[in-house]
Amino acid sequence: MLSWEDYEDDSQQQAPAVTPAVAPAVAPAISKAPATASDTDNQTRTPEPETSIVVPEPTREPVVGAPEKAFETAAPSEGPAQAETAASEQAIASIEGGTSVEAGTLKDEVLLQAEAALADLDAPMVGDGAAEENQRVTVDQKRMINCRADLNQLVPFKYDWAWQKYLDGCANHWMPQEVNMTADIALWKSENGLTQDERLIVKRSLGFFSTADSLVANNLVLAIYRLITNPECRQYLLRQAFEEAIHTHAYQYVIESLGMDEGEIFNMYHEVPAVARKASWGLKYTKDISDPTFTTGTLETDKVLLKNLIAYYCVLEGVFFYCGFTQILSMGRRNKMTGTSEQFQYILRDESMHVNFGIDVINQIKMENPGLWDEEMQNQARQMILEGTQLEIEYARDTMPRGVLGMNANMMAEYLMFIANRRLAQIGLTEQFPGVKNPFPWMSEIMDLKKEKNFFETRVTEYQTGGALSWD
Ligand SMILES: [Fe+2]
Ligand SMILES: [Fe+2]
Repeated sequence: MLSWEDYEDDSQQQAPAVTPAVAPAVAPAISKAPATASDTDNQTRTPEPETSIVVPEPTREPVVGAPEKAFETAAPSEGPAQAETAASEQAIASIEGGTSVEAGTLKDEVLLQAEAALADLDAPMVGDGAAEENQRVTVDQKRMINCRADLNQLVPFKYDWAWQKYLDGCANHWMPQEVNMTADIALWKSENGLTQDERLIVKRSLGFFSTADSLVANNLVLAIYRLITNPECRQYLLRQAFEEAIHTHAYQYVIESLGMDEGEIFNMYHEVPAVARKASWGLKYTKDISDPTFTTGTLETDKVLLKNLIAYYCVLEGVFFYCGFTQILSMGRRNKMTGTSEQFQYILRDESMHVNFGIDVINQIKMENPGLWDEEMQNQARQMILEGTQLEIEYARDTMPRGVLGMNANMMAEYLMFIANRRLAQIGLTEQFPGVKNPFPWMSEIMDLKKEKNFFETRVTEYQTGGALSWD
Protein backbone atom coordinates (compact mmCIF):
# COMPACT_ATOMS: atom_id res chain seq x y z
CA MET A 1 0.00 0.00 0.00
CA LEU A 2 1.18 3.52 -0.68
CA SER A 3 2.09 5.74 2.24
CA TRP A 4 3.31 9.29 2.61
CA GLU A 5 6.86 7.95 2.86
CA ASP A 6 6.59 6.80 -0.73
CA TYR A 7 5.81 10.32 -1.87
CA GLU A 8 8.57 11.82 0.29
CA ASP A 9 11.11 9.40 -1.12
CA ASP A 10 10.08 10.35 -4.63
CA SER A 11 10.61 14.04 -4.00
CA GLN A 12 14.03 13.42 -2.53
CA GLN A 13 15.02 11.40 -5.53
CA GLN A 14 13.93 14.09 -7.91
CA ALA A 15 15.81 16.93 -6.21
CA PRO A 16 19.31 16.36 -7.62
CA ALA A 17 17.98 16.36 -11.15
CA VAL A 18 16.68 19.91 -10.73
CA THR A 19 19.80 21.47 -9.19
CA PRO A 20 22.30 21.22 -12.06
CA ALA A 21 19.86 22.63 -14.59
CA VAL A 22 19.24 25.76 -12.57
CA ALA A 23 22.71 26.35 -11.17
CA PRO A 24 24.58 27.57 -14.28
CA ALA A 25 22.07 30.32 -15.03
CA VAL A 26 22.15 31.90 -11.58
CA ALA A 27 25.71 31.12 -10.54
CA PRO A 28 27.50 34.04 -12.25
CA ALA A 29 25.34 36.69 -10.61
CA ILE A 30 25.82 35.18 -7.20
CA SER A 31 29.57 34.84 -7.59
CA LYS A 32 29.96 38.59 -8.27
CA ALA A 33 28.02 39.75 -5.24
CA PRO A 34 29.71 40.15 -1.87
CA ALA A 35 29.52 36.95 0.09
CA THR A 36 26.81 36.90 2.69
CA ALA A 37 26.05 34.55 5.51
CA SER A 38 23.32 32.94 3.48
CA ASP A 39 25.61 32.50 0.49
CA THR A 40 28.08 30.78 2.71
CA ASP A 41 25.33 28.64 4.10
CA ASN A 42 24.24 27.75 0.61
CA GLN A 43 27.70 26.75 -0.40
CA THR A 44 28.08 24.77 2.77
CA ARG A 45 24.78 22.97 2.29
CA THR A 46 25.16 22.23 -1.38
CA PRO A 47 28.79 22.09 -2.36
CA GLU A 48 28.31 22.51 -6.06
CA PRO A 49 30.99 21.32 -8.43
CA GLU A 50 33.21 23.89 -10.12
CA THR A 51 30.74 24.34 -12.88
CA SER A 52 28.64 26.52 -10.59
CA ILE A 53 31.46 29.08 -10.29
CA VAL A 54 32.85 29.15 -13.80
CA VAL A 55 30.68 31.24 -16.08
CA PRO A 56 29.49 28.85 -18.72
CA GLU A 57 29.41 29.76 -22.36
CA PRO A 58 25.89 30.03 -23.67
CA THR A 59 25.18 26.61 -25.03
CA ARG A 60 21.83 27.41 -26.57
CA GLU A 61 21.88 28.57 -30.14
CA PRO A 62 20.20 31.94 -30.71
CA VAL A 63 16.72 31.56 -32.20
CA VAL A 64 16.89 31.34 -35.97
CA GLY A 65 16.76 34.85 -37.34
CA ALA A 66 16.86 36.46 -33.88
CA PRO A 67 18.80 39.67 -33.85
CA GLU A 68 22.36 39.43 -32.63
CA LYS A 69 21.87 43.00 -31.53
CA ALA A 70 19.83 41.77 -28.63
CA PHE A 71 22.83 39.99 -27.19
CA GLU A 72 25.03 42.97 -27.85
CA THR A 73 22.82 45.32 -25.89
CA ALA A 74 22.92 43.08 -22.84
CA ALA A 75 25.57 44.11 -20.31
CA PRO A 76 28.74 42.07 -20.75
CA SER A 77 28.57 41.04 -17.12
CA GLU A 78 25.15 39.52 -17.59
CA GLY A 79 24.84 35.81 -18.07
CA PRO A 80 22.90 34.09 -20.84
CA ALA A 81 19.67 34.21 -18.88
CA GLN A 82 19.74 37.99 -18.65
CA ALA A 83 20.75 38.30 -22.32
CA GLU A 84 17.78 36.16 -23.34
CA THR A 85 15.47 38.28 -21.23
CA ALA A 86 16.74 41.43 -22.94
CA ALA A 87 16.21 39.82 -26.34
CA SER A 88 12.68 38.80 -25.41
CA GLU A 89 11.82 42.27 -24.14
CA GLN A 90 13.12 43.87 -27.32
CA ALA A 91 11.23 41.43 -29.50
CA ILE A 92 8.02 42.12 -27.58
CA ALA A 93 8.63 45.86 -27.89
CA SER A 94 8.96 45.49 -31.64
CA ILE A 95 5.67 43.60 -31.86
CA GLU A 96 3.89 46.18 -29.74
CA GLY A 97 5.38 48.97 -31.83
CA GLY A 98 3.94 47.49 -35.01
CA THR A 99 5.84 48.51 -38.12
CA SER A 100 8.59 50.46 -36.42
CA VAL A 101 11.94 51.13 -38.05
CA GLU A 102 13.34 48.11 -36.28
CA ALA A 103 10.45 45.85 -37.21
CA GLY A 104 12.05 44.74 -40.43
CA THR A 105 15.07 43.44 -38.61
CA LEU A 106 13.31 42.06 -35.55
CA LYS A 107 10.47 40.16 -37.13
CA ASP A 108 11.85 36.77 -37.63
CA GLU A 109 10.54 34.06 -39.82
CA VAL A 110 8.53 32.44 -37.04
CA LEU A 111 6.67 35.66 -36.27
CA LEU A 112 5.86 36.15 -39.92
CA GLN A 113 4.56 32.63 -40.14
CA ALA A 114 2.37 33.21 -37.08
CA GLU A 115 0.95 36.39 -38.60
CA ALA A 116 0.29 34.64 -41.88
CA ALA A 117 -1.50 31.79 -40.13
CA LEU A 118 -3.72 34.20 -38.19
CA ALA A 119 -4.54 36.08 -41.40
CA ASP A 120 -5.92 32.82 -42.79
CA LEU A 121 -7.90 31.96 -39.62
CA ASP A 122 -11.52 31.45 -40.55
CA ALA A 123 -14.05 32.41 -37.85
CA PRO A 124 -17.44 32.41 -39.55
CA MET A 125 -19.99 34.68 -37.89
CA VAL A 126 -23.70 34.10 -37.71
CA GLY A 127 -25.18 36.28 -40.42
CA ASP A 128 -22.27 35.70 -42.80
CA GLY A 129 -23.98 32.68 -44.22
CA ALA A 130 -22.33 30.44 -41.64
CA ALA A 131 -23.07 26.74 -41.79
CA GLU A 132 -25.73 25.07 -39.62
CA GLU A 133 -23.17 23.95 -37.05
CA ASN A 134 -22.31 27.61 -36.32
CA GLN A 135 -25.83 28.79 -35.52
CA ARG A 136 -27.47 29.02 -32.11
CA VAL A 137 -28.90 25.65 -31.19
CA THR A 138 -32.56 25.04 -30.44
CA VAL A 139 -33.84 22.03 -28.53
CA ASP A 140 -35.67 20.53 -31.49
CA GLN A 141 -32.43 20.40 -33.49
CA LYS A 142 -30.78 18.12 -30.99
CA ARG A 143 -30.56 14.44 -31.78
CA MET A 144 -28.82 11.47 -30.23
CA ILE A 145 -27.10 10.44 -33.47
CA ASN A 146 -26.43 12.16 -36.79
CA CYS A 147 -27.10 15.62 -35.35
CA ARG A 148 -25.70 18.48 -37.45
CA ALA A 149 -26.22 21.27 -34.91
CA ASP A 150 -23.28 22.69 -32.93
CA LEU A 151 -22.11 20.09 -30.37
CA ASN A 152 -20.13 22.63 -28.33
CA GLN A 153 -23.29 24.23 -26.96
CA LEU A 154 -24.28 22.25 -23.89
CA VAL A 155 -27.57 24.08 -23.40
CA PRO A 156 -30.49 24.20 -24.00
CA PHE A 157 -30.86 20.64 -22.69
CA LYS A 158 -32.99 18.21 -24.60
CA TYR A 159 -32.29 15.13 -22.49
CA ASP A 160 -32.65 16.30 -18.89
CA TRP A 161 -32.20 12.70 -17.72
CA ALA A 162 -28.67 12.67 -19.14
CA TRP A 163 -27.69 15.85 -17.33
CA GLN A 164 -29.25 14.55 -14.11
CA LYS A 165 -27.24 11.34 -14.39
CA TYR A 166 -24.10 13.41 -14.86
CA LEU A 167 -24.91 15.33 -11.65
CA ASP A 168 -25.73 12.11 -9.79
CA GLY A 169 -22.48 10.52 -10.94
CA CYS A 170 -20.50 13.51 -9.66
CA ALA A 171 -22.35 13.39 -6.32
CA ASN A 172 -21.30 9.75 -5.91
CA HIS A 173 -17.61 10.44 -6.44
CA TRP A 174 -15.24 8.16 -4.54
CA MET A 175 -11.62 7.04 -4.68
CA PRO A 176 -10.19 3.55 -4.06
CA GLN A 177 -7.53 4.66 -1.55
CA GLU A 178 -10.27 5.78 0.83
CA VAL A 179 -11.24 2.17 1.50
CA ASN A 180 -9.40 0.44 4.31
CA MET A 181 -7.82 -2.78 3.03
CA THR A 182 -6.10 -3.86 6.25
CA ALA A 183 -8.48 -6.71 7.12
CA ASP A 184 -8.35 -8.04 3.54
CA ILE A 185 -4.57 -8.11 3.52
CA ALA A 186 -4.48 -10.05 6.79
CA LEU A 187 -7.13 -12.50 5.59
CA TRP A 188 -5.56 -13.01 2.15
CA LYS A 189 -2.14 -13.67 3.65
CA SER A 190 -3.29 -16.00 6.42
CA GLU A 191 -3.02 -19.66 5.46
CA ASN A 192 -6.50 -20.72 6.47
CA GLY A 193 -8.34 -17.43 6.06
CA LEU A 194 -10.11 -18.36 2.84
CA THR A 195 -10.88 -21.67 1.16
CA GLN A 196 -9.32 -22.48 -2.20
CA ASP A 197 -12.71 -21.95 -3.87
CA GLU A 198 -13.02 -18.51 -2.29
CA ARG A 199 -9.49 -17.59 -3.37
CA LEU A 200 -10.32 -18.66 -6.92
CA ILE A 201 -13.31 -16.30 -6.93
CA VAL A 202 -11.24 -13.35 -5.73
CA LYS A 203 -8.54 -13.94 -8.34
CA ARG A 204 -10.94 -14.53 -11.22
CA SER A 205 -12.99 -11.45 -10.33
CA LEU A 206 -9.94 -9.22 -10.25
CA GLY A 207 -8.65 -10.86 -13.43
CA PHE A 208 -11.83 -10.26 -15.35
CA PHE A 209 -12.68 -6.78 -14.06
CA SER A 210 -9.17 -5.32 -14.16
CA THR A 211 -9.19 -5.52 -17.95
CA ALA A 212 -12.96 -5.38 -18.58
CA ASP A 213 -13.22 -1.83 -17.30
CA SER A 214 -10.38 -0.82 -19.62
CA LEU A 215 -12.29 -2.38 -22.51
CA VAL A 216 -15.36 -0.35 -21.54
CA ALA A 217 -13.34 2.86 -21.19
CA ASN A 218 -11.64 2.35 -24.55
CA ASN A 219 -14.97 1.65 -26.20
CA LEU A 220 -16.31 4.91 -24.76
CA VAL A 221 -13.52 7.20 -25.86
CA LEU A 222 -12.38 5.47 -29.04
CA ALA A 223 -15.70 4.34 -30.43
CA ILE A 224 -18.91 5.68 -28.89
CA TYR A 225 -18.04 9.27 -27.94
CA ARG A 226 -17.67 10.82 -31.38
CA LEU A 227 -20.77 9.06 -32.72
CA ILE A 228 -23.15 10.20 -29.96
CA THR A 229 -24.02 13.67 -31.20
CA ASN A 230 -25.51 15.20 -28.10
CA PRO A 231 -23.55 17.42 -25.68
CA GLU A 232 -25.35 16.51 -22.44
CA CYS A 233 -24.90 12.81 -23.19
CA ARG A 234 -21.24 13.43 -24.06
CA GLN A 235 -20.89 15.17 -20.70
CA TYR A 236 -22.12 11.99 -19.04
CA LEU A 237 -19.85 9.86 -21.24
CA LEU A 238 -16.86 11.87 -20.02
CA ARG A 239 -17.97 11.32 -16.42
CA GLN A 240 -18.46 7.63 -17.12
CA ALA A 241 -15.02 7.39 -18.72
CA PHE A 242 -13.46 8.81 -15.55
CA GLU A 243 -15.47 6.40 -13.41
CA GLU A 244 -14.15 3.50 -15.51
CA ALA A 245 -10.63 4.80 -14.82
CA ILE A 246 -11.45 4.82 -11.09
CA HIS A 247 -12.72 1.24 -11.34
CA THR A 248 -9.55 0.05 -13.05
CA HIS A 249 -7.64 1.95 -10.37
CA ALA A 250 -9.66 0.17 -7.67
CA TYR A 251 -8.82 -3.28 -9.05
CA GLN A 252 -5.16 -2.35 -9.37
CA TYR A 253 -5.25 -1.05 -5.80
CA VAL A 254 -6.71 -4.30 -4.48
CA ILE A 255 -4.26 -6.41 -6.51
CA GLU A 256 -1.32 -4.38 -5.19
CA SER A 257 -2.62 -4.35 -1.61
CA LEU A 258 -3.01 -8.13 -1.55
CA GLY A 259 0.42 -8.60 -3.11
CA MET A 260 -0.92 -10.67 -6.00
CA ASP A 261 1.02 -11.66 -9.08
CA GLU A 262 0.06 -8.72 -11.30
CA GLY A 263 1.13 -10.46 -14.51
CA GLU A 264 -1.14 -13.41 -13.75
CA ILE A 265 -4.16 -11.25 -12.91
CA PHE A 266 -3.90 -8.73 -15.74
CA ASN A 267 -3.32 -11.46 -18.34
CA MET A 268 -6.30 -13.62 -17.47
CA TYR A 269 -8.18 -12.21 -20.43
CA HIS A 270 -5.57 -13.88 -22.62
CA GLU A 271 -4.92 -16.95 -20.53
CA VAL A 272 -8.18 -18.11 -18.89
CA PRO A 273 -10.82 -19.18 -21.45
CA ALA A 274 -13.88 -18.17 -19.38
CA VAL A 275 -12.44 -14.64 -19.06
CA ALA A 276 -10.98 -14.45 -22.57
CA ARG A 277 -14.26 -15.38 -24.28
CA LYS A 278 -16.14 -12.55 -22.58
CA ALA A 279 -13.43 -10.01 -23.46
CA SER A 280 -13.27 -11.16 -27.09
CA TRP A 281 -17.03 -10.97 -27.41
CA GLY A 282 -16.98 -7.29 -26.40
CA LEU A 283 -13.88 -6.36 -28.39
CA LYS A 284 -15.39 -7.38 -31.70
CA TYR A 285 -18.09 -4.72 -31.29
CA THR A 286 -15.48 -2.05 -30.49
CA LYS A 287 -13.58 -3.04 -33.62
CA ASP A 288 -16.65 -2.40 -35.76
CA ILE A 289 -16.88 1.30 -34.97
CA SER A 290 -13.47 2.40 -33.66
CA ASP A 291 -12.15 2.70 -37.22
CA PRO A 292 -11.71 6.50 -37.63
CA THR A 293 -13.31 6.33 -41.07
CA PHE A 294 -16.51 4.79 -39.69
CA THR A 295 -19.46 7.16 -39.70
CA THR A 296 -23.15 6.73 -39.06
CA GLY A 297 -25.89 8.10 -41.27
CA THR A 298 -27.18 5.05 -43.13
CA LEU A 299 -29.54 2.36 -41.89
CA GLU A 300 -26.70 -0.13 -41.90
CA THR A 301 -24.11 1.99 -40.06
CA ASP A 302 -26.65 3.28 -37.52
CA LYS A 303 -27.44 -0.35 -36.71
CA VAL A 304 -23.74 -1.08 -36.20
CA LEU A 305 -23.56 1.71 -33.59
CA LEU A 306 -26.76 0.49 -31.95
CA LYS A 307 -25.31 -3.01 -31.69
CA ASN A 308 -22.21 -1.60 -30.01
CA LEU A 309 -24.39 0.19 -27.44
CA ILE A 310 -26.37 -2.99 -26.76
CA ALA A 311 -23.14 -5.02 -26.51
CA TYR A 312 -21.57 -2.72 -23.96
CA TYR A 313 -24.46 -1.36 -21.91
CA CYS A 314 -26.86 -4.31 -21.96
CA VAL A 315 -24.36 -7.17 -22.05
CA LEU A 316 -20.86 -6.19 -20.90
CA GLU A 317 -21.91 -3.85 -18.12
CA GLY A 318 -25.43 -5.26 -17.87
CA VAL A 319 -24.74 -9.03 -17.68
CA PHE A 320 -20.99 -9.80 -17.66
CA PHE A 321 -20.41 -7.93 -14.41
CA TYR A 322 -23.08 -9.65 -12.41
CA CYS A 323 -21.58 -13.02 -11.55
CA GLY A 324 -18.37 -11.45 -10.22
CA PHE A 325 -20.21 -8.68 -8.38
CA THR A 326 -22.54 -11.17 -6.71
CA GLN A 327 -19.69 -13.45 -5.66
CA ILE A 328 -17.57 -10.69 -4.11
CA LEU A 329 -20.50 -8.97 -2.42
CA SER A 330 -21.60 -12.33 -1.02
CA MET A 331 -18.13 -12.66 0.45
CA GLY A 332 -18.50 -9.25 2.08
CA ARG A 333 -21.86 -10.22 3.57
CA ARG A 334 -20.04 -13.07 5.28
CA ASN A 335 -17.50 -10.65 6.70
CA LYS A 336 -14.74 -11.78 4.36
CA MET A 337 -12.67 -9.46 2.12
CA THR A 338 -14.77 -6.54 3.35
CA GLY A 339 -12.48 -3.87 1.86
CA THR A 340 -12.60 -5.50 -1.57
CA SER A 341 -16.37 -5.87 -1.19
CA GLU A 342 -16.71 -2.21 -0.32
CA GLN A 343 -14.76 -1.28 -3.47
CA PHE A 344 -17.09 -3.52 -5.49
CA GLN A 345 -20.12 -1.97 -3.82
CA TYR A 346 -19.10 1.51 -4.95
CA ILE A 347 -18.36 0.16 -8.42
CA LEU A 348 -21.73 -1.60 -8.62
CA ARG A 349 -23.46 1.66 -7.73
CA ASP A 350 -21.65 3.39 -10.62
CA GLU A 351 -22.31 0.51 -13.00
CA SER A 352 -26.04 0.51 -12.27
CA MET A 353 -26.12 4.08 -13.44
CA HIS A 354 -24.03 3.31 -16.53
CA VAL A 355 -26.49 0.60 -17.54
CA ASN A 356 -29.48 2.86 -16.94
CA PHE A 357 -27.89 5.65 -18.95
CA GLY A 358 -27.04 3.33 -21.84
CA ILE A 359 -30.55 1.91 -21.95
CA ASP A 360 -31.99 5.43 -22.04
CA VAL A 361 -29.67 6.25 -24.95
CA ILE A 362 -30.66 3.08 -26.82
CA ASN A 363 -34.38 3.77 -26.33
CA GLN A 364 -33.94 7.40 -27.38
CA ILE A 365 -32.21 6.32 -30.60
CA LYS A 366 -35.06 3.87 -31.25
CA MET A 367 -37.63 6.64 -30.76
CA GLU A 368 -35.84 9.10 -33.00
CA ASN A 369 -35.07 6.50 -35.70
CA PRO A 370 -38.01 4.06 -35.72
CA GLY A 371 -36.80 2.49 -38.94
CA LEU A 372 -33.75 1.14 -37.14
CA TRP A 373 -35.70 -1.04 -34.76
CA ASP A 374 -36.93 -3.45 -37.40
CA GLU A 375 -37.42 -7.17 -36.97
CA GLU A 376 -33.86 -7.96 -38.00
CA MET A 377 -32.43 -5.53 -35.44
CA GLN A 378 -34.71 -6.87 -32.71
CA ASN A 379 -33.63 -10.43 -33.48
CA GLN A 380 -29.97 -9.44 -33.36
CA ALA A 381 -30.39 -7.55 -30.08
CA ARG A 382 -32.16 -10.54 -28.53
CA GLN A 383 -29.48 -12.93 -29.72
CA MET A 384 -26.71 -10.70 -28.38
CA ILE A 385 -28.25 -10.67 -24.90
CA LEU A 386 -28.71 -14.45 -24.99
CA GLU A 387 -25.12 -15.00 -26.16
CA GLY A 388 -23.89 -12.78 -23.32
CA THR A 389 -26.00 -14.64 -20.77
CA GLN A 390 -24.59 -17.96 -21.98
CA LEU A 391 -21.01 -16.68 -21.70
CA GLU A 392 -21.68 -15.44 -18.17
CA ILE A 393 -23.17 -18.80 -17.17
CA GLU A 394 -19.97 -20.45 -18.49
CA TYR A 395 -17.99 -18.04 -16.34
CA ALA A 396 -20.13 -18.94 -13.32
CA ARG A 397 -19.47 -22.66 -13.83
CA ASP A 398 -15.74 -22.03 -14.26
CA THR A 399 -15.46 -19.95 -11.10
CA MET A 400 -17.75 -22.12 -8.98
CA PRO A 401 -16.97 -25.80 -9.60
CA ARG A 402 -18.67 -26.49 -6.24
CA GLY A 403 -21.04 -24.67 -3.97
CA VAL A 404 -19.38 -21.74 -2.24
CA LEU A 405 -20.52 -18.78 -0.16
CA GLY A 406 -24.07 -20.09 0.01
CA MET A 407 -24.43 -20.19 -3.76
CA ASN A 408 -23.61 -22.44 -6.69
CA ALA A 409 -23.41 -22.27 -10.48
CA ASN A 410 -27.05 -23.32 -10.99
CA MET A 411 -28.31 -20.58 -8.70
CA MET A 412 -26.08 -18.10 -10.52
CA ALA A 413 -27.44 -19.31 -13.89
CA GLU A 414 -30.97 -18.61 -12.67
CA TYR A 415 -29.92 -15.19 -11.45
CA LEU A 416 -28.30 -14.39 -14.81
CA MET A 417 -31.47 -15.43 -16.65
CA PHE A 418 -33.40 -13.13 -14.34
CA ILE A 419 -30.99 -10.30 -15.23
CA ALA A 420 -31.24 -11.15 -18.95
CA ASN A 421 -35.05 -10.92 -18.77
CA ARG A 422 -34.68 -7.48 -17.27
CA ARG A 423 -32.26 -6.29 -19.99
CA LEU A 424 -34.54 -7.60 -22.74
CA ALA A 425 -37.56 -5.87 -21.22
CA GLN A 426 -35.65 -2.63 -20.73
CA ILE A 427 -35.10 -2.26 -24.49
CA GLY A 428 -38.61 -3.39 -25.36
CA LEU A 429 -38.08 -7.09 -26.11
CA THR A 430 -39.96 -10.07 -24.73
CA GLU A 431 -38.47 -11.89 -21.74
CA GLN A 432 -36.89 -15.19 -22.81
CA PHE A 433 -36.83 -17.01 -19.48
CA PRO A 434 -40.38 -16.96 -18.17
CA GLY A 435 -40.86 -17.73 -14.52
CA VAL A 436 -37.25 -17.41 -13.35
CA LYS A 437 -36.90 -15.88 -9.92
CA ASN A 438 -34.15 -13.84 -8.38
CA PRO A 439 -32.30 -16.16 -5.99
CA PHE A 440 -30.28 -13.22 -4.63
CA PRO A 441 -32.83 -10.56 -3.66
CA TRP A 442 -30.18 -8.84 -1.55
CA MET A 443 -28.39 -7.88 -4.80
CA SER A 444 -31.44 -5.89 -5.91
CA GLU A 445 -31.38 -4.15 -2.58
CA ILE A 446 -27.79 -3.04 -3.12
CA MET A 447 -28.51 -1.87 -6.66
CA ASP A 448 -31.55 0.16 -5.75
CA LEU A 449 -29.98 3.59 -5.61
CA LYS A 450 -32.93 5.15 -3.82
CA LYS A 451 -32.48 2.72 -0.97
CA GLU A 452 -28.79 3.31 -0.43
CA LYS A 453 -27.98 1.97 2.94
CA ASN A 454 -24.96 0.95 4.93
CA PHE A 455 -24.91 -2.56 3.61
CA PHE A 456 -21.57 -3.47 5.13
CA GLU A 457 -21.84 -0.78 7.78
CA THR A 458 -19.86 1.45 5.45
CA ARG A 459 -20.54 5.07 4.74
CA VAL A 460 -22.14 4.83 1.32
CA THR A 461 -25.12 6.94 2.30
CA GLU A 462 -23.02 9.68 3.83
CA TYR A 463 -20.52 9.71 1.02
CA GLN A 464 -21.53 12.60 -1.15
CA THR A 465 -19.39 15.32 -2.61
CA GLY A 466 -20.42 18.45 -4.48
CA GLY A 467 -23.88 19.44 -3.36
CA ALA A 468 -23.43 17.81 0.05
CA LEU A 469 -20.36 19.85 1.00
CA SER A 470 -20.84 22.27 3.87
CA TRP A 471 -18.59 25.21 4.66
CA ASP A 472 -19.80 25.51 8.27
FE1 LIG B 1 -16.66 0.21 -14.60
FE1 LIG C 1 -19.27 1.04 -16.44
